[in-house]
Amino acid sequence: MSFRRVFAVVLSFFSLAVLLDGCVMSEEMKRIELVKQSQSRRAEAGSTNLNGEQLFFRSCNTCHPSGRANLGPSLESLSEHFPDDAQLKAYIRKGSGIMPPQPKDAINEQEMDNLVDYLRHLTFDK
Ligand code: HEC
Repeated sequence: MSFRRVFAVVLSFFSLAVLLDGCVMSEEMKRIELVKQSQSRRAEAGSTNLNGEQLFFRSCNTCHPSGRANLGPSLESLSEHFPDDAQLKAYIRKGSGIMPPQPKDAINEQEMDNLVDYLRHLTFDK
């Protein structure tokens, strides 16, 4: 066998290997891409970044209509009971009795800040 011939054979094996490897790699890349897509979809679903008012109406208003008593108590004294934001956030996250907990996939950190800001500015003109 001439050197050329050997070289050609070696070269074709080599390119076949690269080709196969490429296929396996691209399958793997596709899989990684799909996982990434589904992760970012999930992250988006959890990070709607609603403002405080939207969150309040979605998750709180049924029991505290406009901050007033219904199934839950009035929120008029909330800043007396929870002078500290961290305390208030922990309370909202955990829930209490029939008041449901609000984990991070329901209200993300940014939204929690928005909600607390909204709660602190509720007005109770009579
Ligand atoms: C299913 C009804 C319900 C929902 C929904 C609800 N709450 Fe409540 N909430 C209650 C009840 C009942 C209490 C009193 C709990 C207790 O005494 O253990 C309460 C208490 C509170 C308190 C304490 C008030 C105080 O001054 O001591 C705060 C603050 C509060 N809720 C905020 C919220 C926020 C913010 C949301 C929305 C994320 C919310 N609640 C959703 C029923 C509800």
